Amino acid sequence: MDHCKILSFLRATGPALDPLWNEADAVRRANVGDAIHLRGLIEVSNICTAQCTYCGIRVKNPNVHRYRMTLDEILESVRLAQRFGYGTLVLQSGETPAAMPDEWVTEVIRAIRKISTQAITLSLGERPANDYQAYRDWAEAGANRYLIRFETSNPELFRKLHPSHPGLEVRLQALRKLREAGFEIGSGVMIGVPGQTWDDLANDVEMFRTLDLDMIGVGPFLPHPETPLGQEFLAQQGQEPQPDQVPNDELTTLKTVALTRLACPGSNIPATTALACIDRSQGHRNALTRGANVIMPNVTPAKYRRLYEIYPSKATTAEAAEQFDRALKEKILSIGRTIGQGPGNSARFAENPD
Ligand code: 5AD
Repeated sequence: MDHCKILSFLRATGPALDPLWNEADAVRRANVGDAIHLRGLIEVSNICTAQCTYCGIRVKNPNVHRYRMTLDEILESVRLAQRFGYGTLVLQSGETPAAMPDEWVTEVIRAIRKISTQAITLSLGERPANDYQAYRDWAEAGANRYLIRFETSNPELFRKLHPSHPGLEVRLQALRKLREAGFEIGSGVMIGVPGQTWDDLANDVEMFRTLDLDMIGVGPFLPHPETPLGQEFLAQQGQEPQPDQVPNDELTTLKTVALTRLACPGSNIPATTALACIDRSQGHRNALTRGANVIMPNVTPAKYRRLYEIYPSKATTAEAAEQFDRALKEKILSIGRTIGQGPGNSARFAENPD
């Protein structure tokens, strides 16, 4: 699909979208099947040295109580995910080499490997300039995948979102290096950050295809009142938006999920927590029927969850893990899908691991 066609679907409404929804669901079924893979998310630490202007755990938010889970606590979460039958663990944290030294991460991966055959996905941000040895060490210790969103394909907007970062090119280079280290790689963007245009979003989808990603997550921007971008967004509410501004709503997110499935037929695409936050009853289901095939339930200990507030009211989805797990599995079966077994590697990676 070319840029114009992507743009025209992004701008479409109502029944004009039916072909997109149908095609995305058919392409999902043909390429990744009916199984929905569950990835247990462990929010290992909220300590962060970055200044991403949208994120609630940015270094400059003084109102965050910072934590790092102990190895024992991490292993406890691993066991919980095993009990639920989740084939993958996702270790996520703020970007902080000081609080998460390379060797400590290696040790955590090795300790998990001793008790688990689950796939291990890392989502720990970028390591300081060109220190790619850490990525290789982690892959060797037994980690399998790495998630790091590029957030936007527009270099200027990227700079506005990440004032302390050297630039989009460096983020893309990190993705390439992660793949070279042997990881399946995942990335993604937020939908509706202030300044994002329809053209930007169409370019984002095209960049997913160019990067040939194994995993792609997209979710709505949720303004956090203790961040510069959240404040900018909230101050503009009630005013007429810029004519080309992408809204941070469910429909736009679903269109992006569907277009992403068409652009990257074999990728694993989650129904994201951010989407479920803006539509608690139907968000997951709507994404799963429009191209998505993964969900990432949270298995972080209750006492840490409310501290990992990258966007507001995220933690209120933290019903007891058991209850959430049961409801999730019922939801999956009720839409005629099955619960994924095993690690759920990307189809793209299985065919072409180089
Ligand atoms: N709204 C929506 N998504 C956010 N993320 C971080 N902050 C927000 C926010 N305020 C997303 C980013 C990041 C991922 C872990 O969470 O895309 O890559």
